[in-house]
Amino acid sequence: MWDLWIERAKPVMPVIVIDDPDHAVPLAQALVEGGVRLLEITLRTAAGMQAISQIKRAVPEAIVGVGTVTSARQLEDALHRGAEFAVSPGSSPELLACAQEWGGPYLPGVATPTEVMQAREAGFRYQKFFPASAAGGTAMLKALAGPFADVAFCPTGGIGADNYRDYLALNNVFAVGGSWLTPKTAVSAQNWQALTSLAIAS
Ligand code: 3PG
Repeated sequence: MWDLWIERAKPVMPVIVIDDPDHAVPLAQALVEGGVRLLEITLRTAAGMQAISQIKRAVPEAIVGVGTVTSARQLEDALHRGAEFAVSPGSSPELLACAQEWGGPYLPGVATPTEVMQAREAGFRYQKFFPASAAGGTAMLKALAGPFADVAFCPTGGIGADNYRDYLALNNVFAVGGSWLTPKTAVSAQNWQALTSLAIAS
């Protein structure tokens, strides 16, 4: 699924925090207009869950996923609201089992070789490398490529406009995520054009 999406969308995935429910649809539209279609809506705010259904309804060009999933219950709720993919900062046996049962595109979070192995053993060969810069950045990803040639990563955490291309250049990186595409100042000022420009530039 990820390969197919990346063929149709840019390999950058904004990690989105929605504070105001009224921002969800224009924010998603602005990114889609700039060619960024894979949208990770985090559950860090109360508005996150609702934003998933709002965007699904109003922005059909978007591929909407749920992020910061830390429990099976949250995953189930988000799937009911139409989330097409799911992302976690880490993983737990309960979450991995729930995602397995769903069978859809799920990125468990990993930061160490042991976690990579546990997630792979559960059947997930696409994983989120988090927190990317604090956990060793591109050097760590290069080191993981040796023993885990069959695993592909989406690094997030501390990545921005200045270095995301360094990550994308790695063979074991299929996409890069982060909040740099939705700066808080632009979102609170409802400067949607700024988001489109950032998306076009990425
Ligand atoms: C995530 O959950 O992926 C990260 O918190 C995003 O990190 P960033 O804000 O440093 O881009």
